[in-house]
Amino acid sequence: MGILHTLKSCFTAKPKLREIDSTRPASAGVTAVFHTPPILTEKPITQLATPTITGTTTPFTQQALIVATKGTYLLDESFPVPEIQDGEEVLIRNHAVGLNPIDWKSVDWNFCIPTFPWVTGREMSGVVEQVGENVTEFKKGDRVWTSTDYYRDIRSGCFQEYVIAPKHTVKPIPSKLSFESAACLGVCGLTAAMTLWKWLGIPMFDTAQSSQSSGNLLLVWGGSSITGQFLIQIATYSGLEVIAVTSERTAELVSRLGAKHVITRDDKSNDDIVAEARAIGGDAIVKAVDIVGPETAVYCMKALSSKSPVQLAPLSFLPKDVVTPPNVSIENVEMKWFVLNKISESYATALNSLVERGCVKIPELDVIAGGLAAIPEGLNMQKRGNLGGKKLVVSLRG
Ligand SMILES: NC(=O)c1ccc[n+]([C@@H]2O[C@H](COP(=O)([O-])OP(=O)(O)OC[C@H]3O[C@@H](n4cnc5c(N)ncnc54)[C@H](OP(=O)(O)O)[C@@H]3O)[C@@H](O)[C@H]2O)c1
Repeated sequence: MGILHTLKSCFTAKPKLREIDSTRPASAGVTAVFHTPPILTEKPITQLATPTITGTTTPFTQQALIVATKGTYLLDESFPVPEIQDGEEVLIRNHAVGLNPIDWKSVDWNFCIPTFPWVTGREMSGVVEQVGENVTEFKKGDRVWTSTDYYRDIRSGCFQEYVIAPKHTVKPIPSKLSFESAACLGVCGLTAAMTLWKWLGIPMFDTAQSSQSSGNLLLVWGGSSITGQFLIQIATYSGLEVIAVTSERTAELVSRLGAKHVITRDDKSNDDIVAEARAIGGDAIVKAVDIVGPETAVYCMKALSSKSPVQLAPLSFLPKDVVTPPNVSIENVEMKWFVLNKISESYATALNSLVERGCVKIPELDVIAGGLAAIPEGLNMQKRGNLGGKKLVVSLRG
């Protein structure tokens, strides 16, 4: 009902659209699009105080980057501002969005897009604009972040100026964090936390645990990915001994984040990497997370213990036809459960606490200026890869 209503409004509002092809640089007629979006260094915290709220009314229309058809974005200058339809919802004014591989994959390959037009984007930070009648936790002007990794409500797509989120998915921004840093907690940060705590059954941190190693070995294939960087930090804090697979370029980074053993992958076959992992862990690696793809997920399985019960979380899928040994449990990480299951709020609260206390650091950012119009080129940068462990965030703050 909510989605239908919003889509109907979308069609009845007078459209002012500018077309942006996700696969090409912006055309000259699209004035707001940067051919190469300027990358900013992150602004110092002193410049990041909550902006003064000017005006008290929420506009009826906003700018939104909509997916018009497969692979085509349109910048709509008068897209309806989504409305609160449930007393437990929060309307957030968007200040920064994090970019993730799923954002371009879903548009290019046409999945997780229920209909056209659609608004994608799964993580953001900003300030509270309105709250539903049953929301006492937040008030207008509060600095917050959210994860909207459930793609079936167009009001929650993050590539628009105003975003609706259920209150259990909204968290205050840790005190020392900028909007841009907070914008990358919702997908990679939360995925790492929930993969460990929910799917791999690692007890949620407590202070006593943090200083002790359990001796349990965790293999992280793709350690320098943004998800990997969060995962290594949280796992190490939780007492796991991490073996990370990464390139030579990012080996020092993952070591600094806490990986006890680093296997560099340059010029090596996956069989070589498995042999190195087994040389380190013997037949005692009991948990693995693959953050690269179906092929490396299979090799993760080969590095795991052949006798003990073991768990593998393949974040980028496992081939359908793979034969899983009886001692291996495959944990399918589906982040929609953060939105659909209210008790998952505890994972975001715990992650926030780790960040607040400085136990988990935010990855180095490349902040792209230019607002929503810069997102398609930002996604192209992500598609090209080679980001060297830096997270792409788009600032909507001018
Ligand atoms: N299931 C879920 O809910 C979920 C949630 C979040 C992410 N994901 C998936 O997880 C994957 C990573 O996401 P992300 O945003 O964290 O990615 P990202 O930051 O873009 O990670 C890319 C990095 O992976 C590393 N890499 C590439 N090939 C590798 C290989 N063969 N072995 C080891 N490392 C390799 C590269 O670093 P080096 O060159 O330094 O090695 C590269 O910089 C994506 O496929 C994403 O869709 C799934």
